[in-house]
Amino acid sequence: MPEIPLSLEQAEVFAAIEGTRQNVFVTGRAGTGKSTLLNHLSWNTSKQIVIAAPTGVAALNVGGQTIHSLFRLPIGVIADQPIDQNDGVKKLLNTIDTLVIDEVSMVNADLMDAMDRSLRQARQRKDEAFGGVQIVLFGDPYQLAPVPGDGDERAYFADTYRSMWFFDAKVWQQAELRIFELTEIHRQHDADFKHMLNAVRHGQVTAEIAEALNSMGARPAPDEGAITLATRNDSVNRINASALKRLSGRALTAKAEITGDFGGRTYPADETLELKVGAQVMFLRNDTGQGPDGPRWVNGSIGTVTRIDSTVYVDIDGDVHEVEPAIWEKYKYTYNAATKKLRKDVVAEFTQFPLRLAWAVTIHKSQGATYERAIVDLGSRVFSPGQTYVALSRLTSLEGLYLSRPLRPADIIVDPNVQRFMQDPARRGQAQ
Ligand SMILES: Nc1ncnc2c1ncn2[C@@H]1O[C@H](COP(=O)(O)OP(=O)(O)O)[C@@H](O)[C@H]1O
Ligand SMILES: [Mg+2]
Repeated sequence: MPEIPLSLEQAEVFAAIEGTRQNVFVTGRAGTGKSTLLNHLSWNTSKQIVIAAPTGVAALNVGGQTIHSLFRLPIGVIADQPIDQNDGVKKLLNTIDTLVIDEVSMVNADLMDAMDRSLRQARQRKDEAFGGVQIVLFGDPYQLAPVPGDGDERAYFADTYRSMWFFDAKVWQQAELRIFELTEIHRQHDADFKHMLNAVRHGQVTAEIAEALNSMGARPAPDEGAITLATRNDSVNRINASALKRLSGRALTAKAEITGDFGGRTYPADETLELKVGAQVMFLRNDTGQGPDGPRWVNGSIGTVTRIDSTVYVDIDGDVHEVEPAIWEKYKYTYNAATKKLRKDVVAEFTQFPLRLAWAVTIHKSQGATYERAIVDLGSRVFSPGQTYVALSRLTSLEGLYLSRPLRPADIIVDPNVQRFMQDPARRGQAQ
């Protein structure tokens, strides 16, 4: 991949990260080149860095691994549970100077504090925030927030933190975070579209802006070559099912094996997975085996099914890999409000091919990606702050936008906690 020359403001942030040991938060609107700067850092730093991200897709975008796999953390709230660290993890965490995280808006306060504790523990520096490691965060809090868990997890957050956001983690009472804001947008070039996106970001969409977006977006979507970004899993599933139907050939149906109780929470993969040769698929797990050059795929990799037997063969960028079923374990957390303690047990297992159809994805999974054309399907209502902004800002131009229905004022939701943090005068003082 040819390297993009940094802009002046990107170069200044690079110098600040490289030349100091300060913790840094690099923010800015979608498309201001945060991930690009992160990639530049990973190639050009003289420090020992590791790169992580909260989701597989976000990690894939910057060549990192998920925070959970890096730290070997359990899924769900971690609270003050003991953290198991094998020698490999301990060693790794001891060798790093700098931990870099992309899409930090999706990291919750509990996970931020768990990383702090894990680093202190591994490095045996109990009294130093992050065990003395420099933390460099990239992200935009006006994009999607951490996903809230079940009722017990929500209760835990409500009792423990001011909000779920990473910036409300306890560790920031002890550690400084220097903030840089990139201002120049590189993903989009059209000044009008940038202006519209900014209005969506801040919840200041005028009738005129809504009209401009709606009149461009309201037209029949192309049959091919545009991914659908939808708010809800069920619309994603419906779109994928109809694309599958259009493929000729026999369909294979793989039923998941389920033991125990998933407690009403969605399964980690389709209970009934239908595939055909030619289907576009996304991986749902990191490769547990190894190819000759390391893992053959990661969570978020996209490929095409080439053959179906008792296993499935998937072509990723020209290499065909055999894919076997994977096992997911479901943990249950019980939170006792009186003792403020959280307990965790394995309650269920789910076995299925780690694949899903990928003609459409949720807006959540699209955060960090860039598309030339996309169909934005906001469904009956938008339910998360930042959701509409993330979807629209994936597009490189207004000409690539297709809307499955017109935007409405209620589609634009801004989290007051984000406004509190981003507009904090103390924070302004830290910014460049
Ligand atoms: N300095 C730059 N010069 C030219 N293009 C850039 C520059 N920085 C980023 N880009 C391009 O802008 C787009 C968005 O960048 P990205 O790093 O994904 O933004 P963000 O992570 O802030 O959303 C990408 O296509 C990227 O290649
Ligand atoms: Mg990015």
